[in-house]
Amino acid sequence: MKLIVGNWKMYPRKLGDAKAIVGKLKFPAKKLPRTKVVVCPPTLYILPLVALLGRSPILLGAQNTFTVDEGAYTGETSPAALVSSGATHAIVGHSERRALGEDDAVVAQKAIAAVRSGLTVVLCVGEAVRDPGGAYFTEVGRELRASLSGFPKNMTKRLVVAYEPIWAIGSSALRAATPEDFREMSIFIKRNLVDRFGKSAGFSVPILYGGSVDEKNAGGFLKEGGADGLLVGRASLDPERFSEIVRVAVNTR
Ligand code: 13P
Repeated sequence: MKLIVGNWKMYPRKLGDAKAIVGKLKFPAKKLPRTKVVVCPPTLYILPLVALLGRSPILLGAQNTFTVDEGAYTGETSPAALVSSGATHAIVGHSERRALGEDDAVVAQKAIAAVRSGLTVVLCVGEAVRDPGGAYFTEVGRELRASLSGFPKNMTKRLVVAYEPIWAIGSSALRAATPEDFREMSIFIKRNLVDRFGKSAGFSVPILYGGSVDEKNAGGFLKEGGADGLLVGRASLDPERFSEIVRVAVNTR
């Protein structure tokens, strides 16, 4: 099963444009074989898009959530409210949120609250820079362990890890990572997950690649890189490109 997640970030500005993007997605079949597609729009658009999508196979996710289900937390979005609005997934610990001040401890609490509420967590990890000495492995390992502090072992079925090297994200990125970069890191991440959750649970956590994914490099990450899926930023806002990425995933064995 491949998981293709579109992270729309804070785009587009208008609900009408969000509806238009979703309306233009063209997938090869109503039921996508061996592939799950999740669109993560700005939170306010989740409800109207759930209504618009109806029986479509596209699922909706949030780009962030909070550490508890309810309370006096002005302006936060509860994981329980997300579930009740029709969201099935939540991205947690994206580097753009960490850059806004979210630390590993908060990320870990959000991941736990999200799975407890019934969401599938897409936990993001990734190094800021790649040093020739390979210290970035240590950095990612530390971030992964800290972000999973207290995560319940019996809920790993609803855990997905996305490897998103920060240097490969966004329009100012030097380049995407290579499928080899990803493969190496995903083995490292898997080993950490096995240490943390045991062989069978650790091995079954899907690992996605994210960072400048497009319709041209998607196949390489899925095939040569062995990725269980992709976390797509910019290209997920273009319905033709995102549809093509999904088509590539459907055709990758
Ligand atoms: P881009 O695909 O635009 O580089 O964004 C990646 C990302 O941050 C997805 O979460």
